[in-house]
Amino acid sequence: MFSRILRPQTVTVLGQYAKTFSTTNPVTKKVGVMGASGGIGQPLSLLLKNSPLVTQLSLYDIVHTPGVAADLSHIESPAKVVGYVGPDQLADSLKGCEVVVIPAGVPRKPGMTRDDLFNTNASIVANLVKACAENCPKAMICIISNPVNSTVPIAAEVYKKAGVDASRIFGVTTLDIVRANTFVAELKGLDPTTVNVPVIGGHAGVTIIPLISQATPAVEFPEDQLKALTERIQDAGTEVVKAKAGAGSATLSMAYAGARFAFSMIRAMNGEAGVVECAYVRSNVTEATYFSTPLVLGPNGLEKNLGLGKLSPFEGKLIEAALPELKGSIKKGESFVANM
Ligand code: 2OP
Repeated sequence: MFSRILRPQTVTVLGQYAKTFSTTNPVTKKVGVMGASGGIGQPLSLLLKNSPLVTQLSLYDIVHTPGVAADLSHIESPAKVVGYVGPDQLADSLKGCEVVVIPAGVPRKPGMTRDDLFNTNASIVANLVKACAENCPKAMICIISNPVNSTVPIAAEVYKKAGVDASRIFGVTTLDIVRANTFVAELKGLDPTTVNVPVIGGHAGVTIIPLISQATPAVEFPEDQLKALTERIQDAGTEVVKAKAGAGSATLSMAYAGARFAFSMIRAMNGEAGVVECAYVRSNVTEATYFSTPLVLGPNGLEKNLGLGKLSPFEGKLIEAALPELKGSIKKGESFVANM
């Protein structure tokens, strides 16, 4: 099944793109970045500006966006960049956006879990998503802000309260797939660009579930190595937090992952068939009401949930271990909006 996962092109040659899509599909895509001046937001905006898939880039943050936008606007690529700063300009920043990527919020410091960010980031995400519901209700919303396991349910509840269809809300877990591909390639001496490891569940510790048994190309590890590899993928964010020693969490690799997801989404919206990415969405695949699995993306976002696939007994146990934490994080997010 996972042979259907295509390696997305994070860099697309303009000529090739125009040739493939200009006849039948609109190529205009206005993308908003909420939190564009931050550690993830700036490199993410750079990658988006560098792509011909993006024709307008709308950068919002509470500080510094005019400078970031002026800086990026000098790059010789087609996307028009506009910076919006402060809550008074939030609505304008979202008008016309077809894809909105949200990395806004505070990052972890050593010793913190992603859930420790809840108190600060929950209201930031709720406010931004409320503005999306009001100003670009049809946009695909790609949430990076942690704790993703809770911020996605928060966003969905805010949409429900606003009477807007919440099926276009996606939690970006792509960095877990990117890391799994890289680590497997390192261990097996493979070219990482040819490796695809589906990673399902959520985006925190034990809720991150790499499906090494479904990797392409097929790889095998002795039990102890498989356990160590799985734990490294689950703790990879913390590996970066420790290495940055107080200066934050993953920004550059997260920007890469966020851009990869946004590009896949745009390619699917433009009519490309067979685009598959894992993402954390509303789900009935397990007893957790939000769960990441490989998704076929299409012009209207989620086209088909590919589910769990065939699991090894080891992976089945990982899911069992993940569900209590995942369900708790979902409930915490939903209760937050109920009490807002
Ligand atoms: C990570 O996995 C920041 O959650 C992000 O590193």
